[in-house]
Amino acid sequence: MNKITITAEFNVFETIEELPYDIQNLMHEAVTIRKTAYAPYSNFKVGVALKLDNGEIILGSNQENAAYPSGLCAERVAVFYAGAKYPEAKILKMAISAASDSNTTGAPIPPCGACRQSIAEYEIKQNTPIEIYFMGEIGAIYKSDSLKNLLPLLFDKKFL
Ligand code: THU
Repeated sequence: MNKITITAEFNVFETIEELPYDIQNLMHEAVTIRKTAYAPYSNFKVGVALKLDNGEIILGSNQENAAYPSGLCAERVAVFYAGAKYPEAKILKMAISAASDSNTTGAPIPPCGACRQSIAEYEIKQNTPIEIYFMGEIGAIYKSDSLKNLLPLLFDKKFL
């Protein structure tokens, strides 16, 4: 038997003010759009801001449904909209902020598994990495240089 070890590296920023200036702005956009989340069932609100290579900022928030699986996470709302509106543009950077109505989320909140798979599709399509910054309501921000850190051994078109 052999063993393989896969490592993932993240940068940790203690506060928003520690982020590069353009990312501070992107994170503030994510925090603002988070408030538009339609989350009457979980009371957990997520906001996402994407910076595209054409200069556009695309925003998304989670949208829930009484038939729970019919809702959609903020990350997929944003990347699918970016794909629909600017199909030729590359996603350069993504900022994510999540907050619960019932407690103060102090830990960085990463994208869920389904969103990681969806973001991976765009990274592969555009053939350049997407920088991903994620945080809770307060506290530290984690940065990943690429989606690949968040989804090792990902499934993609090369297996089809
Ligand atoms: N949610 C997101 O928007 N993004 C994630 O990556 C994790 C979860 C949403 C889905 C649902 O509306 C609520 O948060 C609770 O799971």
